[in-house]
Amino acid sequence: MPHVAEIAPDIYRICVFYPELNLQFNHFLVKDEEPLLFHTGLRRMFPEVREGVAKVLDPAHLRWISWSHFESDECGSLNEWLTIAPHAQPACGMVGALVNVNDFSSREARILAPQDVLTTGKYRFRYYNTPQLPHGWDAGVMFEEIERVRKSLTTIQASPLANYVPYTHNTGRILEGLASLKPKTLATMHGSSFCGDCREALLDLATVMKEVLDKPSYNFAEVQQAVGP
Ligand SMILES: [Fe+2]
Ligand SMILES: [Fe+2]
Repeated sequence: MPHVAEIAPDIYRICVFYPELNLQFNHFLVKDEEPLLFHTGLRRMFPEVREGVAKVLDPAHLRWISWSHFESDECGSLNEWLTIAPHAQPACGMVGALVNVNDFSSREARILAPQDVLTTGKYRFRYYNTPQLPHGWDAGVMFEEIERVRKSLTTIQASPLANYVPYTHNTGRILEGLASLKPKTLATMHGSSFCGDCREALLDLATVMKEVLDKPSYNFAEVQQAVGP
């Protein structure tokens, strides 16, 4: 059962919680002249996310489908959405389109160059590419310039997966750049949406990521020992 909440005027968070993973997956729906769905969810999650979208608008009226990076939870059910929404078009960065999307997708993507604006009607979403943040060289976020909502980094959780999150020379400066936009709301994929001092929250995230991730975490000898001869 999806949980639907309005996090900004006509911007909805559709949350599906998987208790077995103790993890929430968030999909963001913009109700506007050209409705936008940001994150499709996994293929097996499609009925639930569709149910959530249908509480706000007719899913067949979706015009844009976008996501932060090419993975099953972010865009696995893209083709299911394109089937039920005949006017919907994927929108993503150039790397995502060239490497995965224009082969995977049943409809060609609109390629968003850095700082391109996707207008849905009353709202304007500016695209920022964020390579390797949170992960994936095709990663990017959208910043809604009217209500100042930014989508969507994941949260860094204390989980075994934390060691798989990359930390690059650009991680800090990307987060500082996003902080300079002074968002009012952060629409996060695997955590709560945050309303408050988002500039400070992003700068704090930069600090924590540096502390936690900016050090070697891979030991080949240990891996070899675990696997055995
Ligand atoms: Fe991911
Ligand atoms: Fe994810």
